[in-house]
Parts: sequence; structure tokens; C-alpha cells
Amino acid sequence: MATIHYQSDYVIDLAREAPFASGDNRLCFRHPDDASLCIKVLRSGRAKQLYSASPFYKRMLRETYFDDNRREFAAYQQPAIVRNKCTYHYHVARCYGWVRTNLGDGLVTDLITDINGNPAQTLEDYLSEHGLDAMIQDAASSLALFFRTSLILTKNLMPHNLVLAPSDQGYRLVLIDGLGLSTFLPLAKYSHYFARRHIEKRLQWFYFRLEWEVSDRSISWRDTEATFRFSTIRLEVRSEK
Ligand SMILES: Nc1ncnc2c1ncn2[C@@H]1O[C@H](COP(=O)(O)OP(=O)(O)O)[C@@H](O)[C@H]1O
Ligand SMILES: [Mg+2]
Repeated sequence: MATIHYQSDYVIDLAREAPFASGDNRLCFRHPDDASLCIKVLRSGRAKQLYSASPFYKRMLRETYFDDNRREFAAYQQPAIVRNKCTYHYHVARCYGWVRTNLGDGLVTDLITDINGNPAQTLEDYLSEHGLDAMIQDAASSLALFFRTSLILTKNLMPHNLVLAPSDQGYRLVLIDGLGLSTFLPLAKYSHYFARRHIEKRLQWFYFRLEWEVSDRSISWRDTEATFRFSTIRLEVRSEK
């Protein structure tokens, strides 16, 4: 993976700040100098932990492969985003590159907020409070249309990696984690046909997951997911690259 280019040599002090949220891999802070931005740093030792627990073939790759920030930054360089620069941020948090922090390399993105300026609610939390209501179904349809037309590639769309930003129609869903491809054979990166197929699969999986989120969950997600089948649809092949 490429060398990191920092916005400046200035080291941002995050050690005394409280993260507003954290996931399995990263801590998320509001940028101390710009409230509209989010800085993500790796939870300490996480890359090392994943590295040593991985099977041998993966261990041959460099440790940086397991760095979620670096992988995400690389995913932001995908052609569909680079070409689409002006509009992608409506549904994918915009990325501004790297800063130095005293908690390690920080990846800077837009901080998605609610109407009060607080970090936005995740789709997962919204669903547990309100279920799959009409407003969120509309927001999900707009998101699906966006991915189908932009051909931006994502991993599985997890409800905790989507947040709700206010919009004229109610809400727009914004992906804040999970860009890129998790597969080892990145065909979708080079072919529109495979990109469309990849996206249809992610969207079907997303709707399948939404149904489970609002179900009684008597069957675990693990067992439910094992029954997921992608139903191939006819895909037009246009402007194949
Ligand atoms: N740009 C953002 N705007 C608003 N909330 C965010 C943003 N990025 C992350 N979050 C919140 O922080 C949580 C963890 O961030 P995430 O990037 O998913 O970390 P991880 O890579 O560890 O899963 C998210 O589920 C979300 O609630
Ligand atoms: Mg996450």
C-alpha cells in the first residue's frame, strides 16, 4: 500500500479528547479544530492482533493490510469515486486524507450529524427504535439507486455502518465505513458487468439484513445469513471495460 501523505506535520492531540463513538477497529473523534470533521484512529494494537490471528496465507501480506484506515483510504481511490468526486458525499462520507495524531495516523472524513449537530444516529439504532418504517424504506431505496448508478463498490452494507443525516425528504443514509471489496479477486473493479453484479448482491444482502434487524431474531444472524441466496438477475452489459 502507498505511503501516507499527511495534510501537515502538525500532531493533533487526541489523547485528552473523548471519542464520540468506536467500532471494533477504530476510535472516532470530532476534529478538535473543525467540528464538521471526524478523525478515525486505530484502536491500539488492533492491527497487530488481527495480523497474528490470521491464517498463514494472509500473514504473508504486510501488516498494513489489516489496518482498516489504510484499507478504507485505498477504497476511496476506486475509479467510481475518483471520477464522481462532486456528488458521492451525499451517500458516502467524504474523505480528506491523513493527519498525524498522538494516537497514531488519523483518517479525516466528514462528520455526519443530526439536526442538532450531534453525531448522527446509526441505521441499526433507528431500526431498533422505529422499525422499518416508510421513511427509512424510502431512504434505503434512494441509497440503492445511488449505488446502482454510481457503481461505487462496497463491502456488505451493515446497518451500524450507515448513519442517518437529515434531508428534505426525511433522511438520507450515509455510509461511514465499509467501502471497497472484501474479495481477493477484484473483478468488479475492472468490469462494469461485475461491478453491477457485485452491487446487486450487496443490495439484496442489505434488504435481507434489514428484515432480520426488525424480526424477532429467534434465529441468530449467523444462521439466518447462511440461508441468504443471491438471485441472479439479468444484467445488461453496456460500455464494458
Ligand atoms: N463520519 C461519521 N459521522 C458520524 N458518525 C460516525 C462517522 N464515522 C463513524 N461514526 C460512528 O462511529 C461508529 C464506529 O465507526 P466505524 O468507522 O464504523 O469504526 P470501525 O471501523 O471500528 O467499525 C459508527 O458505527 C458510527 O456510529
Ligand atoms: Mg464500522
